[in-house]
Amino acid sequence: MSEKKNITIVGTGYVGLTTAVMLANAGYKVFTLDIDQKKIDVVKTGKSYFYEPSLDIFVEKAIKSGNLIPTTSYKEAIPSTDIVLSCVGTPDREDGSSNLDYIFAAAESVVTNTKKDLIYVQKSTVPVGTGKSLLKFMKGKNAKVTMHYVSNPEFLAESTAVFDTLFFDRLVVGADNEEARKIVVNIFKDLDSYAKGLEDQHFGDYIGTYKNFSKKDLFSKTFEEKVISTNIESAELIKVTANAFLALKISFANSIAKLADVSGANISQVMDGVGSDIRIGRSFLYAGLGWGGGCFPKDVHGLIHTAKEHGVELSIMNKAVDVNNSMVPYTFNKLKKLKLDKKSDFVTVLGLSFKAGTSDVRKSQSIKLANYIREKGYKVVAYDPHAMEEAKELLNKQITLKQTIEEAIDGTSCVILATEWKEFINFNWEINSKLFKKKNIIDARNKLNQSQLTKQGFVYCGIGQDKSS
Ligand code: UDX
Repeated sequence: MSEKKNITIVGTGYVGLTTAVMLANAGYKVFTLDIDQKKIDVVKTGKSYFYEPSLDIFVEKAIKSGNLIPTTSYKEAIPSTDIVLSCVGTPDREDGSSNLDYIFAAAESVVTNTKKDLIYVQKSTVPVGTGKSLLKFMKGKNAKVTMHYVSNPEFLAESTAVFDTLFFDRLVVGADNEEARKIVVNIFKDLDSYAKGLEDQHFGDYIGTYKNFSKKDLFSKTFEEKVISTNIESAELIKVTANAFLALKISFANSIAKLADVSGANISQVMDGVGSDIRIGRSFLYAGLGWGGGCFPKDVHGLIHTAKEHGVELSIMNKAVDVNNSMVPYTFNKLKKLKLDKKSDFVTVLGLSFKAGTSDVRKSQSIKLANYIREKGYKVVAYDPHAMEEAKELLNKQITLKQTIEEAIDGTSCVILATEWKEFINFNWEINSKLFKKKNIIDARNKLNQSQLTKQGFVYCGIGQDKSS
């Protein structure tokens, strides 16, 4: 059996930590590096510093095994490292371009500390063309060692990060050196074997809860069938294009939802029908408040910007952004129609994270909606089961945060379901209807039971089903 290489993951965020933890559990010695001491200190205790379902189970195991070494020191990690996985953030700038400062800073810290030949794997989402210029930059900083660059974009989604990392549907490997490609593929082959070997009882911990797949479905593709070998540029473009296409699908569904609202159709039924065409697929056609998070907004703007730099106009993506921006005022108009009294009534916004299952509030449409309603002069109360601390900084200071759903709806004149947490979907609205001053519900994620709530005397409206019965 060949000896396992030492790995350093630079950037201990959603992608970095999840990948580091799984590779450590698969038997690799993994340094997980971050410049933020606070994050590293939490990971050292065997926990994640952000909310991600089931991740703590694996962080604890990896720390206990001694295979996962959290550190802030390049000097500690890099000299014994054969392979670096770069998972640092690429935030967007005002003009939509990607800020690659962290990408270059991390690469510089790595190459100036390395003592041996290195494979540098980029998992962060970067604009097409970055890999080549980064490799040139790295070689300029250290000519003594041989370096190969591999683009291996990450497709995990927050809230299902554990699942997506273990049971990845594809492994995109963009390289111009076949040996380096092979080494990276083999690392993920080990991860695939680790996932296959997990006992059934562990499957229930995360799979049953988050996705409806059986173990057999998960491994219907062989590992080899999952590998997509490309050049570096194609791999880079695959990642942003995938996210842009998913965002486009959602914006398309939201456009049709507006037509459904005025025509008597029901958007969920429409998309059930449309999405059952295997060529289209049902996923990412769920109409609602729109897309947010750390990826879609940044990647869509980044793609538009990169295309422009190359003289290509991606007007279709500009339109997707416009539709997305329209969804907050569109939802607000539904509230306006309820003619509440701004002085004596208040509105409850349920959910602040950008989607359920995460404490991430970056570019959250729910926060945008809460702030928008407040700016229009309404009193707003808000609650989120996991993202209150994170939301505080971004929320209008005049919005009142409550500690439970019951407190948040006590005396309300309208509940807006902004983020689709299970806690809200499973809530007993009938029993708790006595807490309402006025029984209005705006379901901005189309997740509640319209006919049941209507029967219970609520005025219900969703997105794309206003005139449907
Ligand atoms: C996304 C991609 O899915 C993932 O592959 C990539 O690696 C990172 O970006 P993430 O940002 O975690 O993952 O969230 P995702 O589940 O894709 O949702 C993005 C946004 O779209 C959320 O705000 C969500 O509420 C919204 N959405 C999603 C819809 O409004 N409708 C849908 O049908 C699906």
